[in-house]
Amino acid sequence: MKRIITSLICLLMFASFAFATGQGDGTSAAKGGEVEVLHWWTSGGEAAAVAVLKQLLEAEGYTWKDFAVAGGGGDNAMTVLKSRALAGNPPAAAQVKGPQIQLWGDEGVLTNLNDVAKAEDWDNLLPKVVADVMKYKGNYVAVPVNVHRINWMWCNPAVFKKAGATIPKTWEEFEAAAKKIKAAGLIPVAWGGQPWQEATVFEIIVAGVGGTDFYKKALVDADVNTLKSATMVKVFKTLRMVLQYIDPGAPNRDWNLATSMVINGEAGMQFMGDWAKGEFTAAKKAPDKDYIAATAPQTSKQFIFNIDSFIMFNVADKDKNAQKAMARLIVQPKFQEVFNINKGSIPVRLGMSEEPFDIPARLAMKDFVATSKSGDLVPSMAHEMAVMPDIKGAMVDTVTNFCNSDMSAEDAAAQLASAVAAVK
Ligand code: GAL
Repeated sequence: MKRIITSLICLLMFASFAFATGQGDGTSAAKGGEVEVLHWWTSGGEAAAVAVLKQLLEAEGYTWKDFAVAGGGGDNAMTVLKSRALAGNPPAAAQVKGPQIQLWGDEGVLTNLNDVAKAEDWDNLLPKVVADVMKYKGNYVAVPVNVHRINWMWCNPAVFKKAGATIPKTWEEFEAAAKKIKAAGLIPVAWGGQPWQEATVFEIIVAGVGGTDFYKKALVDADVNTLKSATMVKVFKTLRMVLQYIDPGAPNRDWNLATSMVINGEAGMQFMGDWAKGEFTAAKKAPDKDYIAATAPQTSKQFIFNIDSFIMFNVADKDKNAQKAMARLIVQPKFQEVFNINKGSIPVRLGMSEEPFDIPARLAMKDFVATSKSGDLVPSMAHEMAVMPDIKGAMVDTVTNFCNSDMSAEDAAAQLASAVAAVK
């Protein structure tokens, strides 16, 4: 596992955004057939994004059977997927990410997509490291959709202005700004009290407070000594400080409702991946005017990445063409452009023009390349990119226990280390 991630990071260093040409028609196919697609994209921005894929498939004469399982971060969707697969009735395609693709490959239930990949030249159009994650034993079994950046802070400039606060670049500055926003009678941080959202903010703090090497040792290598170190205690202290600035409505709040609080000026900021930008876009809000997209405190030189992808299951012959068409369309430029504009992410396909994308997306594109060279491109733990599910589960549980109790930072670091050691 560690090997997959390390090679992912190393190889991304060589990923270039050189213009790529030669989009073939791929596996042109007889029309008809259906794809049932399991995903968890149900918020305004997410739904607008996934609708693009449905339209493209329907335009080619295929039928889209929507299998949306609500629940940000996909925990609900994964539970449903496992039970469908156990019953021997998986959908044609399911949103599954990162190292977990290998676990599904071990089950022997995935379709070989090499013919589509060859016809479409995926080996040259995808960063090699991304392509490697999509392969099981050298064969393509999954299709990458996008690249999300996690370490963002979404701010409402009117709230900051009203409070006389400035957009923070450090956690110290954050505390100063949060105090002012609170004193102005507004909510400093729009918080979604769900485990995956708490883990998202936690990893942002790990990167900012600990730095890139600490992040890799703690959340990629899951090194027990690092997890119980003094730096980790500092991380939890910072998280405790942030929790002073959330509102009583936070428990179990969905991430997109938290984003709405920033959009409508109830709250000053939200720490969330750039799917939150999809909500601003869906609400017709413009960056640098209606909202500010800033990198989260102390992480401007880092890029915590989260790559969405679909695995494809073996399906009946009548639906094979529809399934392969879906795989083909996802990597083609039309989908990559329109989907990612709606979703808030950046294209995974190399050589795409940045022209149609907004300012935060252009910054993400630039930083993706820069951090892949500097070594500051790191996989998200909270979003299944960094460690296998059991280790992730141990980490997320500890963070959630901490957020929802008065546990000390010292105890949290110790608990984190022992929970991870128990499953390692
Ligand atoms: C992430 C996923 C994103 C977004 C988010 C909220 O795990 O990668 O695409 O959907 O969850 O649901």
